[in-house]
Amino acid sequence: MERNLSLEFVRITEAAALASSRWMGRGLEKQADQAAVDAMRKAFDSVRIDGTVVIGEGERDEAPMLYIGEKVGLRGEDSPAVDIALDPLEGTTICANGGVGAISVIAVAEKGRFLHAPDTYMDKIACGPGAKGAIDIDKSATENIHRVAEALRKSVSEITVVILDRPRHADLIAEVRKLGSRIQLIGDGDVSAAVAAGFEQTGIDLLIGIGGAPEGVISAAAMQCLGGDFQGRLKYRNEEEKGRALKMGIKDLHQKFSCDELASGSVMFIATGVTDGPLLKGVKFRSGHRVETHSVVMRSKTGTTRFVEASHNLNRKPLSV
Ligand code: FBP
Repeated sequence: MERNLSLEFVRITEAAALASSRWMGRGLEKQADQAAVDAMRKAFDSVRIDGTVVIGEGERDEAPMLYIGEKVGLRGEDSPAVDIALDPLEGTTICANGGVGAISVIAVAEKGRFLHAPDTYMDKIACGPGAKGAIDIDKSATENIHRVAEALRKSVSEITVVILDRPRHADLIAEVRKLGSRIQLIGDGDVSAAVAAGFEQTGIDLLIGIGGAPEGVISAAAMQCLGGDFQGRLKYRNEEEKGRALKMGIKDLHQKFSCDELASGSVMFIATGVTDGPLLKGVKFRSGHRVETHSVVMRSKTGTTRFVEASHNLNRKPLSV
């Protein structure tokens, strides 16, 4: 995949972040999400790729735009064929409440390199490059924290674990508290949290717990670029979800997925902050109709991570949505 595409992709997440940020704190999740979807869909039209959405807004019958299987991009003879995993607004509730860590995100890979994850839950564990190889989703949180602490040369009490604040995590939270590690409970947005675990400066060492499976694939793409680690296992609430997984080509319903099995090959990960988060600043409206965005662009091929701070002049380039 051409490296100069990455800056084209950042325009896409910027557009979605700018559009949804208008809805920050207004309590209107659907509108915030729709604004991001519309802007992202439109922005894809100017990028020279032959893209197929493999992780998107849902099945074709439930999502009119950016649905699974939708073709996106400006297709020409030499446009590279790529698969796309996207979430125009990851953390709709966060955005609607003006909370922490909403992002707009896309991950891009060569064809066939993303797991076609169903819209179920996934049990996840993620860590940064310093602890790669130390995590194992089959082991207890206690054991994983001990192994990560050893790899990072920290004491267990210095490890910070991010966990989604959900009743289903009561036992996990109790276990980590008993161990004496630090916990950051988040209301939503486990992609931001997983990516943050890949950057030492965030102070986050691990993400553990159950969240969305599509978000798991996107997080694994980020970890491929960062040299971190991610493992996941699909979790089903009912038989219908199992059926959906089988329909999407999952052969072993209880497979433990490694980072490579979720996202492999030449991968790019691009995200723009919508609200302030652990890694990215949110969209800031400045005087004189200037708007600032903060994005991260990463490639697995080179391992390069770029932070892109952009100042947009709305007098010259008004928001299109
Ligand atoms: P949305 O942006 O689709 O609302 O997802 C937010 C999120 O918090 C994800 O980050 C996470 O993986 C998932 O929802 C958790 O699901 P649930 O809210 O059902 O526990």
